[in-house]
Amino acid sequence: MLSLSIILLLICIGLITYYFLQLRQHYQYFSRLHIPTPPFHFFFGHLKTLWSSTSFPRQFETWTKEYGKIYGVYQGTVPTFVVSDPNFLQEVFVKQFAAFSGRTNFFASAKIQNVFTSSDATWRRHRHVINPTFSAAKLKLMSPLINGCITNVMEKLVDHVTSDSEFNIYTYYKRMTMDVICRCAFGLDTDVQSNPNNMYFKKVEELFGARIRSSIFFKLLQVVPQVRTTIVKIFDSINNVRAFINIRILPSVSKKQLHERPDMWLHNRLHSVIEQRQQTPTSRVDLLQLMLQVITTEQINDVVQDGSKTNYRLTREEIVSNIFIFMLAGYETTSTTLAFATYELARHPEVHRKLQAEIDQLPLATDDMSDDDMKKYPDYDIVAQMPYMDLFVSEVLRMYPIANQAIQRRASEDTIVQGIKIEKGTLVYADVYSIHYDQELWGPEDPKIFFPERHETKRHPMAYLPFGAGPRHCIGMRFALIEMKILLVRLLREYSILPGEHLHNKLNIHEQPALAPEAVWVKLVKRSV
Ligand code: HEM
Repeated sequence: MLSLSIILLLICIGLITYYFLQLRQHYQYFSRLHIPTPPFHFFFGHLKTLWSSTSFPRQFETWTKEYGKIYGVYQGTVPTFVVSDPNFLQEVFVKQFAAFSGRTNFFASAKIQNVFTSSDATWRRHRHVINPTFSAAKLKLMSPLINGCITNVMEKLVDHVTSDSEFNIYTYYKRMTMDVICRCAFGLDTDVQSNPNNMYFKKVEELFGARIRSSIFFKLLQVVPQVRTTIVKIFDSINNVRAFINIRILPSVSKKQLHERPDMWLHNRLHSVIEQRQQTPTSRVDLLQLMLQVITTEQINDVVQDGSKTNYRLTREEIVSNIFIFMLAGYETTSTTLAFATYELARHPEVHRKLQAEIDQLPLATDDMSDDDMKKYPDYDIVAQMPYMDLFVSEVLRMYPIANQAIQRRASEDTIVQGIKIEKGTLVYADVYSIHYDQELWGPEDPKIFFPERHETKRHPMAYLPFGAGPRHCIGMRFALIEMKILLVRLLREYSILPGEHLHNKLNIHEQPALAPEAVWVKLVKRSV
């Protein structure tokens, strides 16, 4: 008996020793490559410092100043290159995309497979199905729908003009962008603008409000990524049971929306959106319709796909997951960019004047319009021809790269970039702040100054990354740009924006999970033209 205990003890000691030797080996990754790395802790790598910082991207920017344009950090044991050298990034995001087609597999879960979280062959299948939704022809067809939602927000804003008081315009943008994405992509009339208590909206807001990064669960997964898939599966199962109890056994509890995580709540309800659409055929060709055209009940194995794109299919669960990610990506990003755009307009009267001058030249009716005059609203063709608007929006996104944490790639095979050997599984993060504020890339005017005209000069193709880069850049980029520009045209044609007294002290920019202000307090003044 005693000898058995000793053997077990020796095995344990052996395993622990082996584990620590492996860790030591992991933590020599960058020193073997002669890549600089800030001081780190055994087991946590750089996570302790990152967790205690205001945001990962800001910490990366700080380290870049000390360690240069290419350095390494360990997220737990996962080696991560942090890069602000545009040529290196071009190699990773564009030229060698085949070896870097994924992002961190943090959300690896059977339940959450969509165009954002998937990689390699699975990602190609999703992206291929979804891409046509955002063609120029489709965006033209969507303009009236976007304009319809913008008409609603314009009506709501009137109250604030007549009361001549400052107000937080960001709240209105959020409701509008939620309505726009739901109406354009899924034919779902959320009408959040009239009903801010809409449950879809509240759950999506809850998701963004949740400080996921500071949760113990999230941190544990970061430190020990090896157990990620198992733990996520366990959590998914617990939530499935909860959902089953709420919906089937205790619907009264479900009515109060208790005990369901917002992501699970959304996933569960989105199934009924699909059912409704399947029962009510439509001539619409929106994102949901495109996905339903290729729905399958069969298991999909991307490894053995025959490579023929015409065979690309999506499962019902994948469709739900895509709707979910589009609600998140389509709502928060666009409203936040509009919030920052409004903030900068309130601070820069000369930029404001120039933009209004360009808007006033547009071939649009100026009087109140009836529905018949929809064609006179700014549409795709009109806003696509606005040079100063382009400069302005580009400058907003340069200064506020709101989704910069998504701009990363994971090596799916061993490869060499600019002479540096990168092993499979390694991450490459673009340090977007350092790039967007780099004097060499954006001078001669100080990059800290808001100066739209700097975009008239041709820059390095990787100097401007608000929508990412390469084949996996933001799929909703053109949609977001059209939506934002139409809103700005209609807003500035009717009103001038003035700073509210609380504009600066209530801005409170935070970065968890995406860069966003807390509020943008402005006044709207009716124009006399
Ligand atoms: C101003 C608004 C927006 C910004 C700044 C933005 C930014 C980004 C960024 C930085 C990425 C990662 C790109 C990369 O890794 O190279 C991304 C991906 C993505 N965005 Fe956007 N986005 C915006 C609006 C939208 C909208 C309106 C939608 C949906 C209609 C959308 C859907 C997506 C999706 C699905 C992906 C994942 C694409 C893939 O992995 O293939 N985004 N976005």
